[in-house]
Amino acid sequence: MFRDPVQSLETQPSPSVGAIRPLRVGMIGMGTVGAGTFRVLARNQALIAGRAGRGIEVVVVAARNLARAVGVVGTDVALTNDPMQVATHPGVDVVVEVAGGTGAAREWVLAAIAAGKHVVTANKALLAVHGSEIFAAALEHGVAVAYEGAVAVSIPIVKALREGLTANRIEWVAGIVNGTTNFILSKMRDEGLDFAAALQQAQALGYAEADPSFDIDGVDAAHKMALLAANAFGMPVRFADAQVEGITRLQGLDVACAEQLGFRIKLLGVARRREDHGVPGIELRVQPALVPATHLMAQVNGSMNGIMVKGDAAGVTMYYGAGAGSEPTASAVIADLVDVARLGGTHAAQRVPHLGFHAHAVDNALAVLPRAAVHTRHYLRVPVHSGEQTGAVGAWLATQQVPVAQVQLACDQALPPGTGPQVLVLTGAVAQATVDLAMHALAAHPAVAGPVATLRVEMLEG
Ligand code: HSE
Repeated sequence: MFRDPVQSLETQPSPSVGAIRPLRVGMIGMGTVGAGTFRVLARNQALIAGRAGRGIEVVVVAARNLARAVGVVGTDVALTNDPMQVATHPGVDVVVEVAGGTGAAREWVLAAIAAGKHVVTANKALLAVHGSEIFAAALEHGVAVAYEGAVAVSIPIVKALREGLTANRIEWVAGIVNGTTNFILSKMRDEGLDFAAALQQAQALGYAEADPSFDIDGVDAAHKMALLAANAFGMPVRFADAQVEGITRLQGLDVACAEQLGFRIKLLGVARRREDHGVPGIELRVQPALVPATHLMAQVNGSMNGIMVKGDAAGVTMYYGAGAGSEPTASAVIADLVDVARLGGTHAAQRVPHLGFHAHAVDNALAVLPRAAVHTRHYLRVPVHSGEQTGAVGAWLATQQVPVAQVQLACDQALPPGTGPQVLVLTGAVAQATVDLAMHALAAHPAVAGPVATLRVEMLEG
């Protein structure tokens, strides 16, 4: 039923004389993203060729489920269930890896590079974990590795950072870069859905990772932020050093209290350039954070993503679009294919560098600042025995070097029935170490009636 990919390619007609021959694509993976990519390539074939200056043809596909794959690609494309056959196929110019994972995918991508093929991937986990090795191999073999689909899918944020904002010294990049968790938070807040039901919907819509704990634990967002930080600051991909917290421990009580204070809670990725005691470093973190309810970032709902970049020349720019899904990811994957199609015979040194900076300009010493050094405003929710202790809590925090910007008692009506009095505090900017020490001591304060909740507050100001 399935044709041998090597034989079937050998029998294909030669490209038309006088025209640049089409870019020949081998695809590994025919799931949500693979199918979307194939569909959009077929639907918009002529306009894509018009932009690329040549055709883009999928010639071979590796899929786990061949019967399902043939339903997507038909019988004119060679099919195999061996990804390595695609990675090393002599009739392929570029390998699109949209299968996911970090083990086998690393082998396929390195094999494709060693065989002199360009690679397009939407696999952020792969690049966050093995990016340094993969980009180094690509440089050695003179091929490109493109990954726009790996970060905030439909939003061309890699291109924006590497090309559109190339004149700028980037100060920070922050945003909502995981569609699944934003979808869950929006459903819980707007429709009162519980966590499990909202996650189930996200999975059914094809937003979630194969292992959804990557989404809800903030790991997927951290993969993406590590890639953005590398492009923004000229540093290696430092995913392993990122501070990561997901949404599983977020309480509905804090969502309600944040609203009372005029804020909304979002799972926010932040990469910020800072000096800590005179040493330059980067805050690289993902956590549920309060953003002002009137801020544009608070209006990014459902599976949408929103990213802000602060550059010294451009100021703040903001990017918004679908953060997950089949064709939104396909849009980015195909944009990368068009870039590859346009490379012609350019030397690697003349191309846009993989991480935005040429190797000699990457600052290998630029490190991620430790959690204790992260400097932000904070939200504190302090359960107390009596509302009359509100002032005492504020005064006590001030004695602990925590700058108190606002302190008030949560209004009972907005809280779930049976909730005791809660003192809500907004602090000024303060080091995490100071907050941690104060929270430790506050737990033993006689006014305090239960565990204190703390979340970061991000004003995202220009
Ligand atoms: N699981 C990812 C998300 C898919 O929800 O954002 C797109 O990277």
